[in-house]
Amino acid sequence: LKTKVGIVGGGPAGLMLSHLLAKNGIENIVVEARDHETIHNTHRAGILEAQAVKMLVESGVGGRVLSDGYEHSGIDLRFNGESHPLDFTGLVGATVTLYAQNEVFVDLAAARKRDGGDVRFSSEVTALMDLETETPKFRFTDAAGTELEVHCDILVGADGSRSFCRRQIPDTNRQDFKIEYPFAWFGILAKAPKSARELIYANSPHGFALISQRSETVQRMYFQCDPNENVDDWSEDRIWSELQRRVDGPDGFTLKTGNIFDKTVLKFRSFVREPLSHGRLFLIGDAGHTVPPTGAKGLNLAFADVLVLFEALDSFYATKNDALLRGYSDKALRRVWKAQNFSYWMTSMLHTPVNADPFMARRALGELDTVASSRYGQQYLAESYTGWPHS
Ligand code: DHB
Repeated sequence: LKTKVGIVGGGPAGLMLSHLLAKNGIENIVVEARDHETIHNTHRAGILEAQAVKMLVESGVGGRVLSDGYEHSGIDLRFNGESHPLDFTGLVGATVTLYAQNEVFVDLAAARKRDGGDVRFSSEVTALMDLETETPKFRFTDAAGTELEVHCDILVGADGSRSFCRRQIPDTNRQDFKIEYPFAWFGILAKAPKSARELIYANSPHGFALISQRSETVQRMYFQCDPNENVDDWSEDRIWSELQRRVDGPDGFTLKTGNIFDKTVLKFRSFVREPLSHGRLFLIGDAGHTVPPTGAKGLNLAFADVLVLFEALDSFYATKNDALLRGYSDKALRRVWKAQNFSYWMTSMLHTPVNADPFMARRALGELDTVASSRYGQQYLAESYTGWPHS
């Protein structure tokens, strides 16, 4: 097989890049190890920056995000049992959209199918070759078990946090930066009405909780837990009382409960690979960097990579000049480190490690108060949450 751009990984990042390239007449193939159903059922965050929504809408994939997404003009920071609403519209003139990121995948996969895109699910990449030449290649086994080889100009690793592509880059001239967290998230989906108009990020003496949503009738919530927590040890009653005690306060705020139909423990870390390219291989999204979930930057950051790489590829094919491609890593990494800082900051400010130093727990409350009681502080959070301008 021969194509211009070979994309390893058919999650939202790989498919968005494939879609944009195809719209500009740049031929590409997407090879994805998992099947469509598995990716659709992999629950991820639910917040899209305006920039991500714009990418979907302007490229013709915005139908459902516009009809089924909910525009949110702020969040609620809750600590010491009190709510502190942040109004992003008033603070920075921006909003975000609540729309499940696995539905973004569904929309993009449907668009590629509609447009006759070459997207192969259940197909495992087994080797990358000749990355340092102008004709990189890769080999994969397709859904029927046939071994195929693809020759291309450019290879893109969009294969997620356990990236195979990333691991094919030689040890020299690269650096990994990472930190682990002593906690994880217990995530649930429940059939229940909304408990609040917008999302609540709560710091409590019992740990962090996030009250998110999916629709009028389905809610998404998380609470900080031990990374080794077993979901089977958690009955519905136990989950609801744990969530409730983390949002308890003198205002009597009460969660609206209902049947819990999905429970998962999500482990996370902060990770960055530098540089995000090697020869003709370019890493986008989680393949190059992962953030902890607080603040929902993962997919938004992946889409920002896509935008930078797409512009570089478009210029490369229009002019045969690879200057923008050579600048991809540095340009993408600037935003990556902003998002790393924001995600780390939100995580550390809102969570309480078990056996936390009491000083550190009080310090985090001081930090939350500093942010919530100052317009500048609120604006700092709002600007980061809604997403920095694409430059
Ligand atoms: C969701 C997840 C997040 O990590 C976040 O910061 C906000 C919302 C969600 O799944 O809805």
